[in-house]
Formats: sequence, C-alpha cells, structure tokens
Amino acid sequence: MKINYGKHSIGNDDIQSVIKSLKSNNITQGENILKFENALKKFFGSKYSTVVSSGTAALHLAGRALNWTKKDTIVTTPLTFLASINSIIYSGAKPELVDIDKKTYTIDINKLEDKLKKFKKKNKKISAVIAVDYAGHTCDWRGLIYLKNKYSLKLINDNCHAMGSKYLNSYKYAAKYSDIVTHSYHAVKNFTTGEGGSILTNDKKINDRIQKLRSHSIIRDKKIQSSRGNWFYEVDELGYNYRLTDFQSALGISQLKKLKKTILVKKKIAKAYDKNFQNVEYLITPQVSKYCDHSYHLYPLQIRFDKINISKKKLFKIFYKKGINLQVHYIPIFLQKFYRKNYKFNLDELKNSIDFYKNEISIPIYKELTSNQVEYVINNILKINNLR
Ligand SMILES: Cc1ncc(COP(=O)(O)O)c(C=O)c1O
Repeated sequence: MKINYGKHSIGNDDIQSVIKSLKSNNITQGENILKFENALKKFFGSKYSTVVSSGTAALHLAGRALNWTKKDTIVTTPLTFLASINSIIYSGAKPELVDIDKKTYTIDINKLEDKLKKFKKKNKKISAVIAVDYAGHTCDWRGLIYLKNKYSLKLINDNCHAMGSKYLNSYKYAAKYSDIVTHSYHAVKNFTTGEGGSILTNDKKINDRIQKLRSHSIIRDKKIQSSRGNWFYEVDELGYNYRLTDFQSALGISQLKKLKKTILVKKKIAKAYDKNFQNVEYLITPQVSKYCDHSYHLYPLQIRFDKINISKKKLFKIFYKKGINLQVHYIPIFLQKFYRKNYKFNLDELKNSIDFYKNEISIPIYKELTSNQVEYVINNILKINNLR
C-alpha cells in the first residue's frame, strides 16, 4: 500500500449524508447548499458565505467582487498553488510577488512593507494582497492589518491550507482579519467535498455580488417577475457556473463536523515528526509562531541536501519504491515558464523561496495514517544518509 503525502478520510456518516442528498428531488441546488453555507458561517465566524465549485473559482470571484482591472497591482506569495496568482491574471490585474518569511513560510511582512513603500515613492499603488496561510501556519494577520490601514489595501486570505487553524486562539480569525476569505475543499484538504470551495466575508455587498456571479449573474427579482412573468430573469454582467452541487454540500456538512477531530490526529502526527526530527542536524522542522495553532494541512520538512549524500530526486525515487509518496509544496511560482515569460519578477528579492524549494519535502500527514506507518516514515527519514 502506498503512503501518500495527504489523503481524504470518508466515513460511513459522509456516505449516508451524500446518499440522502442523491435520493432527494434536487441534487444540484437543494437545501444542503444553504445548510452548508450556514455551517461554514458558524464554524468560521463570518457573516456571509457562498459555496462554489473550487478554491480557484473562489479566488477568481474574489477578484471580480473587488473589481480588479488591468490598472490594479495585486501582491501574493511565490510559495502557493498556481490558483493564487492565476486569480490576479484572470482579472487582468498585474501580479507582484513578495518573498516568504524564513520561519513561518508565509508572506514576509517587512518585505511587503518595503514593496509598498517603493510603490508609494513612485506614486503607484498596490490594491490588494492575497496572503496564504501556508501549510496551515497562519500569516501575521495583525501585521497585515497594520499595513492594510497604512496603505489602504484590500486583504484576501487564501485560507485553503488552514481551515481549522487558530490565530490568537480562534478558529474564527480569517474573516475577522481580511476582506475576503477563500477556501478549497479539494480531496487532500483538512475536509473535503471532492472538488469545491467557498468564499467567506463580513461584507454584504461583496457577498451579494459573489452570489450573483456564481451563477451566470442571473437575477430573478420577484417584483419584476410579478409584472413580466415567473420565468423572467435579467443578466447585468458576465457571470460563471461556479455552483457546488447539493450532494457535495451534504458531504461538506458531515466532513466539517469532524474537522476538529481530524486536526487533533494530524497534530499528534506532527508532534511525533517534530520530536524525532528536530535535533537532527540536516533536518529543519516547521516552526510554529506563538500566535498560531497549526492545523497541518501539510508537514513541510526541510532537508539540508547540501549536508547529506543523496539528492532530492534520488530520495523521491527511493521513497516511492518503499511505498512512501512524497510531494513538494511548491515550485515557486516565478520559476514556471508562463509567469517567467510574461512578468518580470526580481529573483534577488525572492531568495528565501528558492532556498526553501531546494530543501522542502512534504511528508505524509493525514487522519488515517496508522502509528506503524508514521513510525515507518520516521525510520526511513532518519536513515536518509545511508540510502543508496
Ligand atoms: C493555497 C491554495 N490556493 C488555491 C487552491 C485552489 O483550490 P482548488 O484546487 O479547489 O481549485 C489551492 C488548492 O490546491 C491551494 O492549495
């Protein structure tokens, strides 16, 4: 059996919940949509929530709701999934990258302020920052709020890795500290709907717009329908089909109920990794800032390949043969051909991401990983120096 870096966990309760939805009269936009949105609002403490078909759709709609155009410059981190930067480009805006902090692997607040100052000096403006709570480690949100107020920015929390993380002891931090929060419920995330996502916000205007854009911008106004007919609808701008199905929402509701338990198990695995790896000279374990309670979507372990006698490529190959499927999160965005060709990023400003990429491997962490499997992973990592 392969041990993957991450994996979904589906119980009988989840299956029953989906079956019930599939047997209902409305498998697309049934009653579970609203129920899931209400459950999300309650758990994550936002006033509004809109479920959508993916985390990418959530980010795209965030940019649309903030009316980004080619006049806007939006900052994100190079250490993220492509969707974070793509959402900027979909809107026609210009992406800028700010390097990661060496300890938290999230956007470096000081370097972000340097970038903001540089823009201001040239009478240019950065409109928004998409900050990513990488691997489950929250950003320095108080620092980001300080910069938001000083430079009048919009803040988006790409929270796809950190559903169930706590910031300053609260699960409800994300909507509190940002204008828009985006989630992904892709299968390897802390809870899943297969594919799926949502947008959380405390801003009614933003939510109304997102609800409209999610379904082709169709407006069915009861008043207008009473004069024109019940079939009547209007469209006032370009929209999308970014709807989540009813049975995915049913799955989301039952998965969300188990999120806290899932995280407890993942934290236990992380603790075992920390204990075994933190004093090994060629390993760097993830540090957790005081303000953060990590949810370990990923366990990014850094290996000082310059200090051992095996390459990353060979390590992946040998581990694969041993049944351990490692991953890398991520190849920094600016190293990809498309972005390199179309945008001129200054690589001298992005050195932490390059160093991190050289070292990082994502090792297995998921709810159904047995203690024997955790031990197997640990023993193999401790033997790295003797692998051939
Ligand atoms: C940080 C981050 N942002 C956005 C996304 C996009 O989510 P999805 O795959 O649901 O479109 C992901 C998913 O992998 C992600 O990890």
